[in-house]
Parts: sequence; C-alpha cells; structure tokens
Amino acid sequence: MTRRRKSIHGQWSSRWAFILAAGGSAVGLGNIWKFPYITGQNGGGTFVLVYLLTISVIAIPIMMAEVMLGRRGRQSPINTMRELAREAGASRWWALMGVAGILAGFLILSYYSVIAGWALAYVFKAAWGTFTGLSGEEVGRVFGAHVGDAGLLLFWHTVMMVMTMAVVSRGVKSGLEQAVRWMMPALFMLLLVLVGYAMSSGGFVRGIEFLFRPSAIGPAGVLVAMGHAFFTLSLGMGAIMMYGSYLREDTSIAKTVITVAGLDTLVALLAGLAIFPLVFAYDLPPGAGPGLIFATLPIAFGAMPGGAFFGTLFFVLLVFAAWTSAISLIEPAVAWLVENHGFRRLHAAIAAGVTTWLLGIATVLSFNRWESYTLFGKTVFDILDFLTANIMLPLGGLAIAVFTGWFMSRKVVRNEMAIEDRRLHELWWFLIRYVAPVGILIVFLNLLGVY
Ligand code: PHE
Repeated sequence: MTRRRKSIHGQWSSRWAFILAAGGSAVGLGNIWKFPYITGQNGGGTFVLVYLLTISVIAIPIMMAEVMLGRRGRQSPINTMRELAREAGASRWWALMGVAGILAGFLILSYYSVIAGWALAYVFKAAWGTFTGLSGEEVGRVFGAHVGDAGLLLFWHTVMMVMTMAVVSRGVKSGLEQAVRWMMPALFMLLLVLVGYAMSSGGFVRGIEFLFRPSAIGPAGVLVAMGHAFFTLSLGMGAIMMYGSYLREDTSIAKTVITVAGLDTLVALLAGLAIFPLVFAYDLPPGAGPGLIFATLPIAFGAMPGGAFFGTLFFVLLVFAAWTSAISLIEPAVAWLVENHGFRRLHAAIAAGVTTWLLGIATVLSFNRWESYTLFGKTVFDILDFLTANIMLPLGGLAIAVFTGWFMSRKVVRNEMAIEDRRLHELWWFLIRYVAPVGILIVFLNLLGVY
C-alpha cells in the first residue's frame, strides 16, 4: 500500500515520548480536581464502579481507535477525517467531527484554564504558609475569598493561557516531552505521600468505604461517570487523534493506550484515596463541588510537618499536569489553522489562545458576580462542563466508534492496529463496533427517560 503519510508538525521520538505526551494530556485536573468532586456529588462507590467500567469497555477501545485514526490521517482532526472518509468512500461530512472537536476544545479550555489558575494561585498561598495551622473552616474561607474575587481569577486565568500559548507556539516536540518526563513520576510520588498522610488522618476507613462501597446512582450519575471517562482520557475531541498523528508506524497502539489509560486511572484513584479520608476526618461535605480539593488538601498541608513544602510542590505539580492537558486542548485548532489557513504556529497559537481567554471570562464570573445566574440550578461553569464533558465528548466518541467500526475498511483497520493476538483484535473489534456505540446510546436514552 502506498500510504505512509508523515505529519508536517513533527513526530514523537519514541513510544515513550507518546506515552508521556498522551499521559500528560490525560492526567490533569480531571484526575485530581474533577474526579474527587464528582465522585463526592454522586454518592461514591457505584459511581466509581460505573466510571471504571466505562473506561474499560467504552473509553479504552475508543481511545485506540482515535489514536489509530490520527496516525493514519497524519493531520489535524478535520483534515484527517476528511481524508479518511474519502479513503473509505464515506461522506465528507465526517470532517464535521473535527470541527465539533475543535469547538469542544475551546469550550473546555476556557474553564480548564480558570481552574488551573486556582491551582497556580494556591502555589503561592502554600509557599507563603497561608495554610499553616488553619482549621477546616478557615481553609474554606480562604477558598471562598479566592473565588469571590473576579479580578484575581481573571489574572491567574490570563497567566495560565499565556503559559499554554507559549508552549503551543513552539510546537509539541520541544518542551512538552521534556516537561512530562519528570513531572509525571514526581506527581505520582507526591500523591503517594498524600495517601500516606490520609491514612493517618483518622478518616481512612470511611474514605475507602465511600469510594468502594456500593451506593445509589441514577441515570444522570451514570452519564456523568461516562462523560468523565471521556474527559479524563482526553477523548472525543481530537486531542488524542492529534497526538496519534505524531506517532510512529511501528508503535503498538493497543499496548500504548492501555498503559496511558492505566496510569490515568491510577492517578485518579490515588487522588480519591488522598482526599476522601480528609473529607471525613474533618467532617466536610463530600458533595461540596468544584472547591473540594481546594478546601480539603490545604488542611492537611497546614497540619503536617513540612506542609508548606509539600503543599507548594503539590500545587506546582498540579499546575504542570493541567498545563500539559491545556496544551493538548488547543493543539488540534492550532494545527488546523497552520494546515488550512497558512498561519504561522505562533499566530495560530495566539488566535486560538485569545479566543479561549475571552470565553474563559464567563467561567471567571460564574464563581462570583454571575453566581446567581443559573439554569436548572447550574451556573455558567456547570453548564459548560456538562455540555462538553457529558454531551460533546461522548458524541465525539460515538462518531469515532461508528466511523471505525462501520465505515472504514476492515483490512485497513486491522493493518493499522496491528494487534498480534488475533483474539484480542476480535475483542477490540467487537467492543468498537457494538459495545461502545450501544453503550453510549443507552446511557443517553436512559437520561431522556428521566425528563
Ligand atoms: N484529560 C484532561 C484531564 O483529565 C482534560 C482534557 C480533556 C484534556 C479533553 C484534553 C482533552 O484533566
């Protein structure tokens, strides 16, 4: 076959470089900030179980497909989908999937950057010893005062966006690979330290029970769990497709994806194990919402020996984790501007960054001046998050599964995936063709039944 396209934006230097970059995209605020708070809001155990289940039978197979599409197309998601649709003799409207992905990326990054800005501000609070000796209530007040100040949130959101644009404008290869190489292991170690501390907090057993004991869940909770499986693996909006387009031909997609998804899940569970014991030890409400980690972990940092050091380090690593995810959120848009509109990378990064920055102002305000503007009890931030993570990403994933399973040539897919074990390939094929699409539809339909 005479294909073997190459991406004009570069290529990863090795399989590990891809694992680190995709891992950098996957591991982020989703694992450490979002997973604990939505688990808290949705009752714990059963929610975690549904999340793990959707990761394994829906998200991992789709992640493999998304990487595969990217590697075969070797361009930004819009052009990749147009090209692959042409190759498969399918409608060129499949390119719309790439468009929807870019839109989702802008919307997600607009609030993601604001929350990452909280973490950035907390680096300085921790370093200055703000939390030393504070009670749970006082820590809560610090958080309330922080999000209540729109100017401050805007400032940190701006810093975060500038940081993101700086890396994206230089291209994924320089910078990103290096940053993730030491950040991921460090984050991991620090989480272990925090879990160790949580074990001694007096709330460990209750924390474990909350995370793993069956609990009540409704169709809405199931949707949130599934949406989070997509969000946490950066699926369904083209980021992973983009990173797949930089992947070498000889890399095993299946093994690589399983490694990344495994790491990502482990980080989320560790974050849960570090946070929930504290929640119970200090009698805080598990369903406190987006402020959960900002209202719990600082209590621990304020009380433990060396807390200012560990606290600073933790928030630095959280910022890094968020940064590497933020980069992947606008990479598809930037690559597309470069490919189709002749933008220089720098200009593309600025254009995409400024657009996102402007959108982010809505999230900044939704925690203070617009706090009372709600729809079905949801603030602007809640709506953005719901729309993107729970609707747009699963729909993107559905499109990936349907395109791969029903439109592409079976032979092309088999060659591109190159799973050695025939039975494993059949299993993946079955999951992508039937289980993933049907699963996503059932979760959506279930929800419609409620309203
Ligand atoms: N996966 C990232 C996280 O968990 C968020 C993200 C979503 C990144 C979608 C890219 C695309 O924080």
